[in-house]
Amino acid sequence: MHTFRPQSQLPIGMFDSGVGGLTVLDALNRALPGEDILYLGDTARLPYGTKSPETITRYALQIAEKLVERGIKILIVACNTASAVALDALTAAWPALPVIGVVLPGAKAACAASQNGHIAVIATQSTIKGGAYQRAIRALRPGCRVIGKACPLFVPIAEEGWMDGPIVEAVAARYLSPIFLDVPKSERPDCLVLACTHFPLLKSAIRNVVGPDPAIVDAAAITAETVASTLAQGGLGHPEATQRRGSIHYLTTDDAARFAHIGSLFLGRPIADTDVELVDL
Ligand code: DGL
Repeated sequence: MHTFRPQSQLPIGMFDSGVGGLTVLDALNRALPGEDILYLGDTARLPYGTKSPETITRYALQIAEKLVERGIKILIVACNTASAVALDALTAAWPALPVIGVVLPGAKAACAASQNGHIAVIATQSTIKGGAYQRAIRALRPGCRVIGKACPLFVPIAEEGWMDGPIVEAVAARYLSPIFLDVPKSERPDCLVLACTHFPLLKSAIRNVVGPDPAIVDAAAITAETVASTLAQGGLGHPEATQRRGSIHYLTTDDAARFAHIGSLFLGRPIADTDVELVDL
Protein backbone atom coordinates (compact mmCIF):
# COMPACT_ATOMS: atom_id res chain seq x y z
CA MET A 1 0.00 0.00 0.00
CA HIS A 2 1.29 3.48 -0.88
CA THR A 3 0.64 6.88 0.65
CA PHE A 4 -0.44 9.41 -1.91
CA ARG A 5 -2.47 12.64 -2.03
CA PRO A 6 -3.97 13.67 -5.39
CA GLN A 7 -3.64 17.35 -6.40
CA SER A 8 -5.97 19.09 -8.80
CA GLN A 9 -3.31 20.60 -11.09
CA LEU A 10 -1.79 17.20 -11.88
CA PRO A 11 -2.68 15.34 -15.09
CA ILE A 12 -5.19 12.55 -15.48
CA GLY A 13 -3.20 9.32 -15.79
CA MET A 14 -4.42 6.57 -18.07
CA PHE A 15 -3.06 3.39 -19.55
CA ASP A 16 -3.77 0.61 -21.97
CA SER A 17 -1.83 -2.36 -23.25
CA GLY A 18 -1.14 -0.29 -26.36
CA VAL A 19 -2.84 2.29 -28.54
CA GLY A 20 -6.42 0.99 -28.09
CA GLY A 21 -7.05 3.13 -25.02
CA LEU A 22 -6.74 6.20 -27.25
CA THR A 23 -10.41 5.63 -28.12
CA VAL A 24 -11.10 6.37 -24.43
CA LEU A 25 -8.58 9.23 -24.38
CA ASP A 26 -10.41 10.88 -27.25
CA ALA A 27 -13.72 10.81 -25.37
CA LEU A 28 -12.02 12.07 -22.21
CA ASN A 29 -10.27 14.89 -24.02
CA ARG A 30 -13.56 15.99 -25.59
CA ALA A 31 -15.39 15.89 -22.23
CA LEU A 32 -12.57 17.58 -20.27
CA PRO A 33 -10.55 19.70 -22.73
CA GLY A 34 -8.94 21.75 -19.96
CA GLU A 35 -7.30 18.75 -18.27
CA ASP A 36 -3.78 17.51 -18.94
CA ILE A 37 -3.51 13.81 -19.78
CA LEU A 38 -0.59 11.44 -19.32
CA TYR A 39 -1.20 8.24 -21.32
CA LEU A 40 0.92 5.10 -21.13
CA GLY A 41 0.63 2.41 -23.82
CA ASP A 42 2.45 -0.78 -22.87
CA THR A 43 3.14 -1.72 -26.48
CA ALA A 44 6.18 -3.86 -25.58
CA ARG A 45 3.92 -6.35 -23.79
CA LEU A 46 0.74 -6.14 -25.89
CA PRO A 47 -1.50 -8.10 -26.14
CA TYR A 48 -2.82 -8.39 -22.60
CA GLY A 49 -5.93 -10.20 -23.79
CA THR A 50 -4.25 -13.59 -24.08
CA LYS A 51 -2.29 -13.39 -20.82
CA SER A 52 -3.07 -14.72 -17.34
CA PRO A 53 -4.76 -12.55 -14.69
CA GLU A 54 -1.57 -12.69 -12.56
CA THR A 55 0.59 -11.34 -15.38
CA ILE A 56 -1.89 -8.62 -16.33
CA THR A 57 -2.19 -7.54 -12.69
CA ARG A 58 1.60 -7.38 -12.31
CA TYR A 59 1.86 -5.21 -15.45
CA ALA A 60 -0.97 -2.93 -14.28
CA LEU A 61 0.67 -2.37 -10.88
CA GLN A 62 4.01 -1.53 -12.52
CA ILE A 63 2.33 0.98 -14.82
CA ALA A 64 0.41 2.61 -11.95
CA GLU A 65 3.70 2.96 -10.06
CA LYS A 66 5.29 4.68 -13.06
CA LEU A 67 2.37 7.07 -13.58
CA VAL A 68 2.10 7.96 -9.88
CA GLU A 69 5.86 8.59 -9.80
CA ARG A 70 5.35 11.07 -12.66
CA GLY A 71 2.43 12.68 -10.79
CA ILE A 72 -1.24 12.02 -11.58
CA LYS A 73 -4.48 12.80 -9.74
CA ILE A 74 -6.67 9.95 -11.00
CA LEU A 75 -5.97 6.71 -12.85
CA ILE A 76 -8.09 5.52 -15.76
CA VAL A 77 -7.63 1.90 -16.74
CA ALA A 78 -8.44 2.40 -20.43
CA CYS A 79 -8.05 -1.30 -21.20
CA ASN A 80 -10.94 -3.70 -20.83
CA THR A 81 -8.70 -6.66 -20.09
CA ALA A 82 -6.78 -4.85 -17.32
CA SER A 83 -10.01 -3.35 -15.94
CA ALA A 84 -11.59 -6.79 -15.85
CA VAL A 85 -8.79 -8.41 -13.86
CA ALA A 86 -6.63 -5.78 -12.11
CA LEU A 87 -8.96 -3.07 -10.79
CA ASP A 88 -9.17 -4.42 -7.23
CA ALA A 89 -5.40 -4.85 -6.99
CA LEU A 90 -4.85 -1.27 -8.19
CA THR A 91 -7.38 0.13 -5.73
CA ALA A 92 -5.81 -1.88 -2.89
CA ALA A 93 -2.32 -0.68 -3.79
CA TRP A 94 -3.32 2.99 -4.14
CA PRO A 95 -6.23 3.55 -1.74
CA ALA A 96 -6.15 7.37 -1.98
CA LEU A 97 -5.93 7.42 -5.79
CA PRO A 98 -9.28 7.38 -7.58
CA VAL A 99 -9.07 4.44 -10.02
CA ILE A 100 -11.67 4.08 -12.77
CA GLY A 101 -11.95 1.14 -15.14
CA VAL A 102 -14.05 0.71 -18.25
CA VAL A 103 -16.01 -2.40 -17.25
CA LEU A 104 -18.61 -0.81 -14.99
CA PRO A 105 -19.26 2.15 -17.34
CA GLY A 106 -19.54 -0.30 -20.26
CA ALA A 107 -21.98 -2.48 -18.32
CA LYS A 108 -24.08 0.58 -17.45
CA ALA A 109 -24.19 1.65 -21.10
CA ALA A 110 -25.32 -1.86 -22.09
CA CYS A 111 -28.06 -2.04 -19.47
CA ALA A 112 -29.35 1.37 -20.53
CA ALA A 113 -29.41 0.39 -24.22
CA SER A 114 -31.04 -3.04 -23.95
CA GLN A 115 -34.83 -3.33 -24.05
CA ASN A 116 -35.17 -7.10 -23.93
CA GLY A 117 -32.44 -7.79 -21.34
CA HIS A 118 -30.46 -9.99 -23.72
CA ILE A 119 -26.95 -8.64 -24.19
CA ALA A 120 -23.91 -9.91 -26.11
CA VAL A 121 -20.43 -8.91 -24.93
CA ILE A 122 -17.45 -9.26 -27.27
CA ALA A 123 -13.92 -8.84 -25.93
CA THR A 124 -10.51 -10.49 -25.62
CA GLN A 125 -10.12 -14.05 -24.32
CA SER A 126 -9.03 -12.90 -20.84
CA THR A 127 -11.92 -10.46 -20.43
CA ILE A 128 -14.52 -13.05 -21.44
CA LYS A 129 -12.93 -15.87 -19.45
CA GLY A 130 -12.79 -13.77 -16.27
CA GLY A 131 -16.51 -12.96 -16.59
CA ALA A 132 -16.24 -9.42 -15.14
CA TYR A 133 -18.59 -7.89 -17.74
CA GLN A 134 -21.11 -10.68 -17.37
CA ARG A 135 -21.10 -10.21 -13.57
CA ALA A 136 -21.30 -6.40 -13.76
CA ILE A 137 -24.27 -6.52 -16.16
CA ARG A 138 -26.15 -9.11 -14.08
CA ALA A 139 -25.48 -7.12 -10.88
CA LEU A 140 -26.95 -3.98 -12.50
CA ARG A 141 -29.83 -5.82 -14.12
CA PRO A 142 -30.60 -9.12 -12.42
CA GLY A 143 -32.19 -11.67 -14.73
CA CYS A 144 -30.37 -10.28 -17.76
CA ARG A 145 -29.18 -12.87 -20.29
CA VAL A 146 -25.54 -12.21 -21.18
CA ILE A 147 -23.56 -14.01 -23.86
CA GLY A 148 -19.79 -13.52 -23.81
CA LYS A 149 -17.78 -14.15 -26.97
CA ALA A 150 -14.02 -13.77 -27.35
CA CYS A 151 -13.06 -12.15 -30.66
CA PRO A 152 -9.25 -12.01 -30.40
CA LEU A 153 -8.54 -11.57 -34.12
CA PHE A 154 -10.17 -8.15 -34.10
CA VAL A 155 -7.18 -6.78 -32.15
CA PRO A 156 -4.42 -7.32 -34.77
CA ILE A 157 -6.85 -6.46 -37.57
CA ALA A 158 -7.55 -3.02 -36.03
CA GLU A 159 -3.83 -2.50 -35.38
CA GLU A 160 -3.20 -3.23 -39.06
CA GLY A 161 -5.48 -0.31 -39.85
CA TRP A 162 -8.07 -2.52 -41.57
CA MET A 163 -11.19 -0.88 -40.20
CA ASP A 164 -13.66 -2.13 -42.81
CA GLY A 165 -13.91 -4.18 -46.00
CA PRO A 166 -14.45 -7.86 -46.85
CA ILE A 167 -11.72 -9.33 -44.63
CA VAL A 168 -12.95 -7.59 -41.48
CA GLU A 169 -16.56 -8.49 -42.31
CA ALA A 170 -15.64 -12.15 -42.91
CA VAL A 171 -13.96 -12.34 -39.50
CA ALA A 172 -16.89 -10.52 -37.87
CA ALA A 173 -19.35 -12.90 -39.54
CA ARG A 174 -17.42 -15.94 -38.29
CA TYR A 175 -17.55 -14.64 -34.71
CA LEU A 176 -21.01 -13.07 -34.67
CA SER A 177 -23.22 -15.14 -36.97
CA PRO A 178 -23.88 -17.82 -34.32
CA ILE A 179 -25.22 -15.11 -32.01
CA PHE A 180 -26.97 -12.72 -34.39
CA LEU A 181 -27.76 -14.51 -37.65
CA ASP A 182 -28.05 -18.28 -37.18
CA VAL A 183 -30.79 -18.00 -34.55
CA PRO A 184 -34.44 -16.94 -34.72
CA LYS A 185 -35.02 -13.19 -34.28
CA SER A 186 -36.66 -13.68 -30.91
CA GLU A 187 -33.46 -15.34 -29.62
CA ARG A 188 -31.11 -12.55 -30.67
CA PRO A 189 -29.55 -10.07 -28.21
CA ASP A 190 -30.71 -6.50 -28.77
CA CYS A 191 -27.45 -5.01 -27.53
CA LEU A 192 -23.83 -5.71 -28.47
CA VAL A 193 -21.10 -4.41 -26.15
CA LEU A 194 -17.74 -3.67 -27.76
CA ALA A 195 -15.80 -4.57 -24.61
CA CYS A 196 -12.34 -4.11 -26.02
CA THR A 197 -10.58 -0.85 -26.79
CA HIS A 198 -9.91 -1.87 -30.40
CA PHE A 199 -13.41 -2.88 -31.39
CA PRO A 200 -15.03 0.59 -31.74
CA LEU A 201 -12.75 1.12 -34.76
CA LEU A 202 -14.41 -1.83 -36.48
CA LYS A 203 -17.92 -0.69 -35.66
CA SER A 204 -19.13 -0.12 -39.21
CA ALA A 205 -17.95 -3.58 -40.35
CA ILE A 206 -19.58 -5.13 -37.28
CA ARG A 207 -22.77 -3.19 -37.99
CA ASN A 208 -22.80 -4.54 -41.57
CA VAL A 209 -22.71 -8.07 -40.19
CA VAL A 210 -25.22 -7.84 -37.31
CA GLY A 211 -27.67 -5.66 -39.21
CA PRO A 212 -29.48 -2.51 -38.13
CA ASP A 213 -31.32 -3.83 -35.08
CA PRO A 214 -28.99 -4.37 -32.14
CA ALA A 215 -27.71 -1.33 -30.27
CA ILE A 216 -23.90 -1.31 -30.40
CA VAL A 217 -22.33 0.29 -27.32
CA ASP A 218 -18.84 0.89 -25.98
CA ALA A 219 -17.52 2.32 -22.74
CA ALA A 220 -15.60 5.39 -23.98
CA ALA A 221 -18.19 8.16 -23.60
CA ILE A 222 -19.69 6.92 -20.35
CA THR A 223 -16.20 6.40 -18.86
CA ALA A 224 -15.41 10.03 -19.69
CA GLU A 225 -18.61 11.10 -17.91
CA THR A 226 -17.64 8.99 -14.88
CA VAL A 227 -14.20 10.62 -14.77
CA ALA A 228 -15.73 14.10 -15.03
CA SER A 229 -18.10 13.48 -12.13
CA THR A 230 -15.38 11.81 -9.99
CA LEU A 231 -13.08 14.81 -10.47
CA ALA A 232 -15.90 17.23 -9.69
CA GLN A 233 -16.96 15.34 -6.55
CA GLY A 234 -13.39 15.07 -5.28
CA GLY A 235 -12.60 18.76 -5.96
CA LEU A 236 -9.95 17.50 -8.37
CA GLY A 237 -10.84 19.41 -11.54
CA HIS A 238 -7.95 21.55 -12.81
CA PRO A 239 -8.32 25.00 -11.18
CA GLU A 240 -8.06 26.74 -14.59
CA ALA A 241 -9.83 24.07 -16.63
CA THR A 242 -12.28 26.51 -18.24
CA GLN A 243 -9.56 28.93 -19.41
CA ARG A 244 -6.97 26.55 -20.79
CA ARG A 245 -6.39 23.78 -23.31
CA GLY A 246 -4.87 20.73 -21.59
CA SER A 247 -1.78 19.00 -22.91
CA ILE A 248 -1.50 15.32 -23.83
CA HIS A 249 1.74 13.46 -23.29
CA TYR A 250 2.27 9.87 -24.37
CA LEU A 251 4.52 7.24 -22.85
CA THR A 252 5.18 3.95 -24.58
CA THR A 253 7.26 0.91 -23.67
CA ASP A 254 8.35 0.17 -27.26
CA ASP A 255 9.06 2.07 -30.48
CA ALA A 256 7.82 5.64 -30.09
CA ALA A 257 7.55 6.19 -33.86
CA ARG A 258 5.27 3.15 -34.28
CA PHE A 259 3.14 4.31 -31.35
CA ALA A 260 2.75 7.73 -33.00
CA HIS A 261 1.88 6.15 -36.36
CA ILE A 262 -0.71 3.57 -35.20
CA GLY A 263 -1.90 5.81 -32.39
CA SER A 264 -2.82 8.48 -34.96
CA LEU A 265 -5.11 5.95 -36.67
CA PHE A 266 -6.83 5.12 -33.40
CA LEU A 267 -7.12 8.73 -32.29
CA GLY A 268 -8.26 9.97 -35.68
CA ARG A 269 -5.78 12.87 -35.56
CA PRO A 270 -2.02 13.07 -35.78
CA ILE A 271 0.25 12.31 -32.82
CA ALA A 272 3.64 13.99 -33.16
CA ASP A 273 6.69 11.76 -32.58
CA THR A 274 7.92 14.45 -30.16
CA ASP A 275 4.88 13.94 -27.90
CA VAL A 276 5.74 10.26 -27.40
CA GLU A 277 8.38 9.24 -24.87
CA LEU A 278 9.89 5.77 -24.58
CA VAL A 279 9.89 4.48 -20.99
CA ASP A 280 11.06 1.36 -19.20
CA LEU A 281 8.88 -0.08 -16.47
N1 DGL B 1 -6.63 -3.15 -24.70
C1 DGL B 1 -7.11 -4.51 -24.73
C2 DGL B 1 -8.56 -4.53 -24.23
O1 DGL B 1 -9.25 -3.55 -24.22
C3 DGL B 1 -7.06 -5.10 -26.12
C4 DGL B 1 -5.66 -5.37 -26.62
C5 DGL B 1 -4.93 -6.43 -25.82
O2 DGL B 1 -5.28 -7.62 -25.85
O3 DGL B 1 -3.99 -6.05 -25.13
O4 DGL B 1 -9.02 -5.56 -23.80
